[in-house]
Amino acid sequence: MSKSTTAVMDKIVSLCKRRGFVFPASEIYGGQGSTYDWGPLGVELKRRVKEAWWRSMVYDRQDVVGLDSAIIQSPEVWRASGHVDGFTDPLIDNKTSKQRYRADHLVEARIEKYRRQGKEERAAALQEKLTAALGDNQALRRLILEEGIKCPVSGTDDWTEVRQFNLMFQTWVGPVQDSAAVAWLRPETAQGIFINFNNVVTATRKKLPFGIAQIGKSFRNEITPGNFVFRTREFEQMEMEYFCRPEEAERWFDYWQQERFRWYLDLGVDPEKLRLRQHTSDELAHYAAGCGDVEYLFPFGWSELEGIANRTDYDLKRHTEASGVQLSWFDQERNEHIVPYVIEPAAGCDRTAMTFLVDAYDEEGEGKDRRVVLHLHPRIAPVTVAVFPLVKKEGMPEKAAEIEQELRRRFTTAIELNQSIGRRYRRQDEIGTPFCVTVDGDTLADDTVTLRERDSMSQERVPVSELAGVIDQRIADWRRPEKASVA
Ligand code: GLY
Repeated sequence: MSKSTTAVMDKIVSLCKRRGFVFPASEIYGGQGSTYDWGPLGVELKRRVKEAWWRSMVYDRQDVVGLDSAIIQSPEVWRASGHVDGFTDPLIDNKTSKQRYRADHLVEARIEKYRRQGKEERAAALQEKLTAALGDNQALRRLILEEGIKCPVSGTDDWTEVRQFNLMFQTWVGPVQDSAAVAWLRPETAQGIFINFNNVVTATRKKLPFGIAQIGKSFRNEITPGNFVFRTREFEQMEMEYFCRPEEAERWFDYWQQERFRWYLDLGVDPEKLRLRQHTSDELAHYAAGCGDVEYLFPFGWSELEGIANRTDYDLKRHTEASGVQLSWFDQERNEHIVPYVIEPAAGCDRTAMTFLVDAYDEEGEGKDRRVVLHLHPRIAPVTVAVFPLVKKEGMPEKAAEIEQELRRRFTTAIELNQSIGRRYRRQDEIGTPFCVTVDGDTLADDTVTLRERDSMSQERVPVSELAGVIDQRIADWRRPEKASVA
């Protein structure tokens, strides 16, 4: 990362800690690397992300239902899905430093170095060799040695063989820790959906095409987690499996890519920093025939927010073969069983929340007018309205409490009594609160308040009786402002 990109990320990480969005996990014990706890504001932000996703994927549609399946399933699930054999990364150890690396990442770092040095031809040639070597441990190791790649810690090239390392977290169910008791924490929520396909069809009588949505934690023993909450070993997924006739899969694949791309834009993400990128064939997961990634331009580069994959009939067929239970949909008109194809939009909740934070972060003004502000979409902001009494006397705190209680029925609210009004505005700007309401002497006389908007900083007198309606309208009309500075 360059100095300025680290600086921006450092500021966001520091704001997250200071204001209670994200804390380093196990901090009082020195921390648990790349693991985080979501604080009081962070948990609200994540809830908004999940609510917005569920609304658009389930409530706003007729063709998608929800599910909440177990994290620990029968180990047979992961054997059948291909995760036991195929969900692996190629790892290599440096014998001197004892550090472990993704072998392909070491080569990718070298390619990046060539690019930075303007050696485009060498970069392209190495990229070609890497693509050919993927999946072949010995070829990967040869490439590392040929290139003279050294361990960044020890500076030596005494590398072990490359070995495949499974990313699933293993545990034992029950008191006996033998091989019969082995189980895995799910690495994706998707399989819980596939194995319940017949149950959901029977219970809901859904007809093709239809989808099953699920939000929940998944676990991957990533060897290189990092970039704050972007890649962590424990993370929350928002996945939907959309079952359709095989001949309609391409159409739905396109549809869901457009639909999901639009979701981020509708929630105010900068269109200049969002792109849809098709996977090349060597990038595809073991189950996918095609995949489009929604990517965001973070300070550390373009990175995936969501993959929209065409999983074909791979999973339903694998589970049918392994379990002996036919997972299919009976077409009464044609009098035949169909094994549907599956289009899967799979998003990461933590990284989506982080995207909104990074995308919203701005520094505006100079000197005493300087402010840090999060231009979050009002539907995503942890607090929608903050209410302030101008002073802590003359009945203003009581009136403010009364107004806040009324607003609380419709919005998430906060009340702040201390410091100057200017400072209270700044504190709310920094956590992305879109509206502030100030109760002053006039309020007690004419029942009006000052409504202040975060983005424009404009202020207006509004009758208390109209406040909720005006705020609702402003939320509906909200448009992303131009950013003044960074990130
Ligand atoms: N189910 C797709 C993924 O976990 O990435």
